[in-house]
Amino acid sequence: MDLLIEELSTQERYKFLSAVVIPRPVALVTSKDQSGLCNAAPFSFFNVFSEDPAIAILGIGAKSNGGSKDTLQNIRDTKEFVINMVDSSIIGAMHIASAELPSNESEIDYAGVTLVDSKTVGVQRIAEAPACLECELFQIIDLTERRALVLGRIKSIHIKDELLDPITKRIIPEKYSPIARLFGDHYAWLGERYTKAIPSVEEIHSLGLRAGEIKTDS
Ligand SMILES: Cc1cc2nc3c(=O)[nH]c(=O)nc-3n(C[C@H](O)[C@H](O)[C@H](O)COP(=O)(O)O)c2cc1C
Repeated sequence: MDLLIEELSTQERYKFLSAVVIPRPVALVTSKDQSGLCNAAPFSFFNVFSEDPAIAILGIGAKSNGGSKDTLQNIRDTKEFVINMVDSSIIGAMHIASAELPSNESEIDYAGVTLVDSKTVGVQRIAEAPACLECELFQIIDLTERRALVLGRIKSIHIKDELLDPITKRIIPEKYSPIARLFGDHYAWLGERYTKAIPSVEEIHSLGLRAGEIKTDS
């Protein structure tokens, strides 16, 4: 089946695009309004796209009434936010924070998590999160009145000590298990992992037409 974007309604586009491009990581974003109230909300139109400059991007839509989501308004106003990665320790907080609470109420009050000061931005991070990216606003691209891309310049990466190998200073893959968003109400945990180095030209040439059967390392 071929689906021409021009022939799909906005809802159908969302349905297919968000179900095709999976799994997506989830950013539980903390931000602050002008009065200092902390807001939290999950975003799965999210990833990192560059290391120099270090850039993370969020895709933020409108509220159901067409207004600006609190996260986007806060980032426009205060120009800072924190991306808290979500694993089983804050999964409940992620679900609670996706509810449309009134702007003058903080999701954090209901989420059962602890806020602690960040190193480089005025917005607090979630202490229980396995990893956090402290961001200052780099650019907002308003695609339409209802869709914005927020580019954040990452100023600091916080990683829980127990996730790091003390000698190599690398993340221990078996200990880090962020949630994956599928579509709608569907989620997944990381399954079996494997490694495979980029194949050499010699390896590809020696396999010839059987290159598609290339083996993983482990
Ligand atoms: C797992 C998950 C991922 C989500 N991803 C997005 C997203 O990428 N973009 C978006 O606009 N809304 C997304 N939402 C919905 C927002 O979290 C929701 O609208 C929230 O109420 C916004 O809060 P705010 O107004 O405090 O910013 C997601 C919800 C969930 C549960």
